[in-house]
Amino acid sequence: SFSLLGLALLLGACTKEIATTPNTSTTTSPSTTSTSYNDLWIPPTLTGTTFNLSLDKSTKQFFSGSVTNTYGYNGANFWGPTLIMNKGDQVQINVKNNLSETTTSHWHGFHIPAEMDGGPHQEVLAGTTWSPNFKVMNNAATYWYHPHLHELTAKQLSLGAGGLIIIKDPEEAALALPRTYGVDDIPLVLTSRKFTSTNVIDYSTAYGDYLLTNGTLNAQMNLPKQMVRLRILNAEIERGYNLGFSDNRTFYIIANDGGLLETPVPVTRVKLVVGERIEILLDLSKDAAGSSLDFKAYNSNLPAGFGGSEPAQSGQFGSLLNNKDFNLLHINVAAASSNPITAVPSSLVKQTTLSASEVTNSRILMVTGGQPNGPAFSFNNVTYDHQTINQTIKLNAVEKWTIMNNNIFGHSFHIHDVQFKIISRSSGTVGIHESGWKDTVYLPVGESVTFLAKFDDFTSTKHPFMYHCHFANHEDAGMMGQFLVIP
Ligand code: C2O
Ligand code: CU
Repeated sequence: SFSLLGLALLLGACTKEIATTPNTSTTTSPSTTSTSYNDLWIPPTLTGTTFNLSLDKSTKQFFSGSVTNTYGYNGANFWGPTLIMNKGDQVQINVKNNLSETTTSHWHGFHIPAEMDGGPHQEVLAGTTWSPNFKVMNNAATYWYHPHLHELTAKQLSLGAGGLIIIKDPEEAALALPRTYGVDDIPLVLTSRKFTSTNVIDYSTAYGDYLLTNGTLNAQMNLPKQMVRLRILNAEIERGYNLGFSDNRTFYIIANDGGLLETPVPVTRVKLVVGERIEILLDLSKDAAGSSLDFKAYNSNLPAGFGGSEPAQSGQFGSLLNNKDFNLLHINVAAASSNPITAVPSSLVKQTTLSASEVTNSRILMVTGGQPNGPAFSFNNVTYDHQTINQTIKLNAVEKWTIMNNNIFGHSFHIHDVQFKIISRSSGTVGIHESGWKDTVYLPVGESVTFLAKFDDFTSTKHPFMYHCHFANHEDAGMMGQFLVIP
């Protein structure tokens, strides 16, 4: 069922989201309201225990002139509805593929039986419907769904196929947090695209020139003068973001990939790489109604290897956003809603831990490639092969994985089935915001990251799970491996 609010916003936004010219730069001054902004599209929500998704071809008027061919779920023209699920529910999702090519639909971050996972093996052929059925086991947090067909992931994602999943649970519900979707609980899906001169999405290019927030160019939104929760997904093909606000204000990270943190973490900037999510509290209670600020990516002068912002790549892979700061959302402060939340909670949830003493097996995985001979994107110098199992794990094992980045780029490492706890980085610093449950982690050039994970509940003797770089172009080029979980 569509929420009425989502539907109203959907109808409202469809009619007017056109940037003035294909070459508009987004350097509008931070505090002036400009008519070149478009209202942020808020994806409608689907709730309950049966979810129907259909992936279709669509078109979107991004620029004046030709419409752009896109993919979208349930009639959306770029990015799909937000699925809202309750932890503990048994859910069924019917994914209908109306494209003329095969797709898959992966529930990113879910602890789920392998045959329901939607990885490269669970193909949904053109014209067919795939109906996974599973129990929602994850903590309240922000997850997402997206195609995962080997060698077509970058294309299908680039054209707009994907959506958010919000899981709710009693622990989260007991906290005084903003949770009115589209009002004080705002989904922000960040990605960028490069367009050809005829407004075609150039999906051979990982680095976009135009920033899209929920698919909206030059997005703006009225937000109430109170505590607002932003659920942020880096849905890029390759670019990382260094996030912050134009007045450098402090904001509070309350959750990351797999759940709420123990306490809100105050920061003025945070890096988010492809596939990672954070939820933040933005305190607008002291802002004047009518004032404005910008949510931005402070991407100039990022360290080399961040992924998508290295100056050396600017000419090569699209240039308008590379090594530059750019706007993600123009925020207009409006009147508070009734019963606003105005305080940051002093604590959130108690984390369960995995300790090093529980470890039953350790592995080292090398991110390789970029050398003169051999594949450009691989793990342990082996590229992905659909028929090859790269790792075998015993059910209930607590494993210590060390991922060493020996490649020439930064990467974003993601593993299916589990949420993990990062215990160390070779650079010496694990961010406090990385302290909760994670499924995706930033791997700078030359760095190694060690995490612990328990592979419980599900064996996968026939259908393997994946681990991979979440840069979709790297994944498609073979920086992916498979594992079985055996009794
Ligand atoms: Cu978000 Cu294997 O993927
Ligand atoms: Cu990569």
